[in-house]
Amino acid sequence: MRTYKITSLLVITSLALFSRSYGQKTASLKDSYKNDFLIGTALNATQIEEKDPTAKVLIPKQFNAATPENIMKAEVIHPGWDKYNFDLADKLVAYGKKYNIRINGHTLIWHSQLPAFMHGMQDADSVKQYFTNHIKTVAARYNGKVFSWDVVNEALNEDGTLRKSIFADKLGPDFVTEAFRLAQAASPDAQLYYNDYNNEQPAKRAGCIALIKKIQAAGVRIDGVGIQGHWRASNIPLKDIEESIVEYSKLGIKVMFTELDLGVLPNPWDGDAADVNMKATYTAKMNPYANGLPDSMQVKLTKGYEDLFKLFLKYKGTVSRVTFWGVNDGQSWLNGWPIKGRTNYPLLFDRNYQPKPAFDAVIALKK
Ligand code: G3I
Repeated sequence: MRTYKITSLLVITSLALFSRSYGQKTASLKDSYKNDFLIGTALNATQIEEKDPTAKVLIPKQFNAATPENIMKAEVIHPGWDKYNFDLADKLVAYGKKYNIRINGHTLIWHSQLPAFMHGMQDADSVKQYFTNHIKTVAARYNGKVFSWDVVNEALNEDGTLRKSIFADKLGPDFVTEAFRLAQAASPDAQLYYNDYNNEQPAKRAGCIALIKKIQAAGVRIDGVGIQGHWRASNIPLKDIEESIVEYSKLGIKVMFTELDLGVLPNPWDGDAADVNMKATYTAKMNPYANGLPDSMQVKLTKGYEDLFKLFLKYKGTVSRVTFWGVNDGQSWLNGWPIKGRTNYPLLFDRNYQPKPAFDAVIALKK
């Protein structure tokens, strides 16, 4: 019995000594790609407030760009008609300054995560007032403090038409251009972007190009387009992505991959989407890797990231930033969407912040 205990202790100790951990010797994504494009991450409140000791060391070493995952969304930053809550956003700006991390504000105008007082608002004048006050107040406060803004997020349907939303309904189809006009006036020093998911897909891309051309034709500034990049490791649309980089760059704007993650779990609808309102029911079959990712999937994930970063490097003059939607697998929204309580593995660091083979593959491309 005693021998057994000692042996197990030895095994556990040696595993701990030899397993990979995050440390001084881990290579740096931002340093490896410093001549190519910015490397960003989404940050949550715990990370912004530096409450997690590993994240505190890892984030500034790995990333030179950051997007708040939730804390600059309207429901958080503008909770009442005349009430703003800038606490965490101010902390994020200070964090960026301390570590020389460029902040991308996310997001000024989005139909989702709106404050409760906007729910069911019928009066067009009130919507217009909200729209104007929100952009003016938030964009002006952070002028010169954030590097860029996702001015409008997810305004398009999959077929490229304008999504039905409170803004489209009450303000009409020019609301996107108007949002950029207001943002430009309130925050003249910030880069201004349109951001969406699946806008690398041909129909949605065509709608996105038309939208950008409309903004430009109105004499309003738009500096870039964000392709979110919520894809599945087994089904990355590389051809559509490459065509999109080329087509968008013809508009004279930068292209960013703004919310990159590669899901490995089955999708109940067998498609790529990121609409937070789509939900499905949990079954064990839909959560196949609760106890660990099999090697075959790890290989797929690694290859997926390798292929993508090869492509990004091919267009490094046009691609100006690649941002992961989270620091480690445990933080990812994909553990809770579209089915709650699953175990997904979409990022470059695992739940213990250990770099995964996909991290090594991305670093190896620059060696
Ligand atoms: O903060 C509340 C907490 O007080 C409450 O108790 C809890 C109960 O559900 O909810 C918490 O809010 C959650 C919030 O994340 C913060 O954790 C919301 O329910 C949850 O819906 C929200 O999800 C976020 C989602 O956007 C909706 O805003 C995800 O974290 C975030 O990753 C995701 O990000 C979006 C991008 O902004 C736009 N593109 C798609 C992307 C993925 O959906």
